[in-house]
Amino acid sequence: MSAAAVPLPRALRRCLCLDDFEAVARRKLPRPLFGYVEGATETNSARAGNRAVFDELSFVPRMLVGVAGRDTSTTIFGKRYAAPFGIAPMGICALTAYRGDLALARAAAHGNVPMVMSSSSLIAVEEVARAAPGVWFQAYLPRDEEATIAMMDRISRAGIETLVVTVDSAVVPNRENNLRTGFRTPLRPNLRLAWDGITHPRWLFGTFLRTLLRHGMPHFENAGATRGEPLVSRHVTRDFAGREHLTWSAIHAIRRRWRGPLVLKGILHPEDARLARQAGVDGLIVSNHGGRQLDHAVSPLRVLPEILEAADGQCVMIDSGFRRGTDVLKAIALGATCAFIGRPFNYAAAVGGEAGVRHAIQLLKDEVRADMGLLGINALDELCPELLWSTPGYPGGCP
Ligand code: FNR
Repeated sequence: MSAAAVPLPRALRRCLCLDDFEAVARRKLPRPLFGYVEGATETNSARAGNRAVFDELSFVPRMLVGVAGRDTSTTIFGKRYAAPFGIAPMGICALTAYRGDLALARAAAHGNVPMVMSSSSLIAVEEVARAAPGVWFQAYLPRDEEATIAMMDRISRAGIETLVVTVDSAVVPNRENNLRTGFRTPLRPNLRLAWDGITHPRWLFGTFLRTLLRHGMPHFENAGATRGEPLVSRHVTRDFAGREHLTWSAIHAIRRRWRGPLVLKGILHPEDARLARQAGVDGLIVSNHGGRQLDHAVSPLRVLPEILEAADGQCVMIDSGFRRGTDVLKAIALGATCAFIGRPFNYAAAVGGEAGVRHAIQLLKDEVRADMGLLGINALDELCPELLWSTPGYPGGCP
């Protein structure tokens, strides 16, 4: 069914594309929370580059080929999904949206698109996996092998099959924008935070107090084998340090134990794709974390062709800056299997819960389907660099 045919709550009716959710979420969320989702790092240059790169590639469509039989589906690790995009892992989603991780995971399951649950989340992985079987799980590398084994045993028991390990977070990035808006974890109760809440009553009552009343104080549930710190605390500090020493041997250790598909997220250098292949990794998400880690990190789309060459048979996926059906189709034309999307789905959950995310997924599905017809293809495997025109100097596509 097309997105337009679904009766929608008023706040969602005006959202006609993924970018439209941002302005509505900005009004609803307290400033520190909106800033946490929207922000990037230092000068925000990496985030800007993630969007700019799409303007360097244009389509060269085919006409009169007969496009009545269009099929947007794709296969990842043996499972058939309805569309070649998914929901990227995002931390503390249950603070920006009521039961956010569940809303995202249920909507993804309903739309049959992949969804990666973040380990920096406030709802236990066991509960999310029960509500949305097939959800993928993202972990940051634990500090030592013992903690790694305990984490893997837990998520395996929870029924997780696909493990995504984020490798672009060796040290804490310079997100001074978070300090400016007053965001930190755990949140420290103070007058400013109280004022931010009072001035955003729909969030205060609909998300925060509703969560407190029904589920108690949220905790970081999935950072390790056991429950972590509370979300709001005057004294506790979350310790993000301790990953500086980690090397490829940590990935080898995970591969020895993890039986299901293993994906590395945050790869940008072709040599790292080669090392991942040697380590027996099944898939990559080429990503600069939405511009939230190293500022001026290259836009993943620019390095995709070289990564694909180095990956040699691994499933290569991508994220950072994808907003449109045409963005997704460009990455697939260059050889990616799937594109993940972060912020817009977070905003959609904040604005409309599961219905909001379902709406966002449907909007993007509709775009992909229409764009395939306009490009003159019926299946995603017909996409190839010959359907792209690139500005001179771009490594992919045709001159
Ligand atoms: C993220 N991202 C992220 N990645 C990860 O591996 N683990 C995490 O816990 C988080 N948390 C997180 C929170 C928020 C609010 C955002 C916006 C992002 C990065 C995410 O998975 C993805 O790489 C980017 O969001 C993709 O870029 P776009 O689509 O947001 O431009």
